[in-house]
Amino acid sequence: MAQYRSLILGCGPRARAHAEVYAEIESMELVAACDLDEERLQAFTAEHGIEAGFTDYETALAEVRPDVVHVVTQPGNRVWEAECAAGAGVQATILEKPIAILPSEIAELERIRDESGMKIIVNCQRRYFPQWRDGHIRRAMDEIGEVYLVRASTKGNLMSMGPHTMDLLLLLMDDVEPQAVWAMAWGVDETGYKAYHRAPEHTFAEYWFPGGVRALFDCDVDALGTPEEESFWMHLHFDILGREGRIYVTQNGGWWYQAQGMAEPVHGESSWTNQQREGQRDFTRAVAEWLDGGDPHLNRFETARATFNALIGALQSVYEGRRVPLPPSFTDDQWRELYQRLSDSNAG
Ligand SMILES: NC(=O)c1ccc[n+]([C@@H]2O[C@H](COP(=O)([O-])OP(=O)(O)OC[C@H]3O[C@@H](n4cnc5c(N)ncnc54)[C@H](O)[C@@H]3O)[C@@H](O)[C@H]2O)c1
Repeated sequence: MAQYRSLILGCGPRARAHAEVYAEIESMELVAACDLDEERLQAFTAEHGIEAGFTDYETALAEVRPDVVHVVTQPGNRVWEAECAAGAGVQATILEKPIAILPSEIAELERIRDESGMKIIVNCQRRYFPQWRDGHIRRAMDEIGEVYLVRASTKGNLMSMGPHTMDLLLLLMDDVEPQAVWAMAWGVDETGYKAYHRAPEHTFAEYWFPGGVRALFDCDVDALGTPEEESFWMHLHFDILGREGRIYVTQNGGWWYQAQGMAEPVHGESSWTNQQREGQRDFTRAVAEWLDGGDPHLNRFETARATFNALIGALQSVYEGRRVPLPPSFTDDQWRELYQRLSDSNAG
C-alpha cells in the first residue's frame, strides 16, 4: 500500500492534470474523488480508476481519512475547504491557485495551518519545470550584468494567470518580496470562470524590488503578452533586461539569452506542451517528499502568501490611487468597494 492516500475535491478539467500523474508516484495513491456534480464524478472516477466517489466533501473526509487533499475547485471557498481538511487530520492540502480572493482569507489560511500543523501548498506547478527548478533562467541572469528591469506579462487576469506570473517573477527575484507597487486597473468581466477569479479585467502594475530592480507587470486581456501566442493562458512572458544583455522567456516557445560579447544567443527549452505533465508529477511527488522530512515544497504557503500579497498590493494601489508600500494593508471592505468601482467602470 502507498504511504500517502489522497482525495481530489473537484473533478473539473483541471483535476485531470492532478490525477493522471499518480501512476508515476509510488509513495502516493489516489483513493477517492468528490464532486457535487454526480455525472462529472462518475466520469472522473471511471477514467482514473478511482475506487471511491462522493458528492459531499465532509462525508468523503470522514470516510476516507486521506493524508493528502487536492482542492481543485473554483476559488471562493478555500478557507472552508482547508478548514475541513485540517479538522479531518489531513497532513497536506494542495490548493489550486489562486490561494485566495479576499485579503482576509490569507490570514485565515495561515491560522488554519498554524493551529493544525497541516501543510498548505499552492498549485503553481511551473516552479517544477526544469528551466525554473534547476535555475537555468536564474543563472542566465548572472551573465547579463546588473538586472534593472523585468517585463512580466499575461493575458489572464490578476487571479487567473496573475498567481503563476507573480510566482515566477518572485522566483527570479530569489523570493525577495517587492517593497512597493503602483498600479492602475479598470473593468471586470464576470462571465465563465472569471465569475470566480474575481479581479480587474485590465491591470498594469509597476513593482519596486530591493536593490532597485523594477518589474512592469501586465495582467490584462489586452496585454502585449508573447507576440503571436494564442490562448489567453499561454501568455506567460518575461523580458529581463540587464546592463550587458537580455533574457527572453515564453511559456511555450522556448527561452533564450544573449550577453555582450556572445556571437549567438543561447536557447533553452520552455514548453508547456512537453513539460506540464512531468512538472505536475514532480510538484505532487515533492509533497510526499516534504511529508517524509525532505526539502520544503517550492510552492509552500509562504511563497503563495508572498505572491498573493504582491497581487493584492496592486489592488490596494488602484484603490488609493498612489504608490503603496508592501506588504499590503488592504481590507475586505476596501476590496469590495474597489470591485464595485471597477464594475461601474465597465460602462465608461
Ligand atoms: N495550475 C494550473 O495550471 C491551472 C490550470 C487551470 C485551472 N487551474 C485552477 O484550477 C481550479 C479549477 O479549475 P477547473 O477549470 O477545473 O474548474 P471547474 O469549475 O470546471 O471544476 C471545479 C469542480 O469543483 C466542483 N466543486 C466545487 N465546489 C465543490 C464542493 N464543495 N464539493 C464538491 N465539488 C465541488 C464543481 O462541481 C466542479 O465540477 C481553478 O482554481 C483554476 O484557477 C489551475
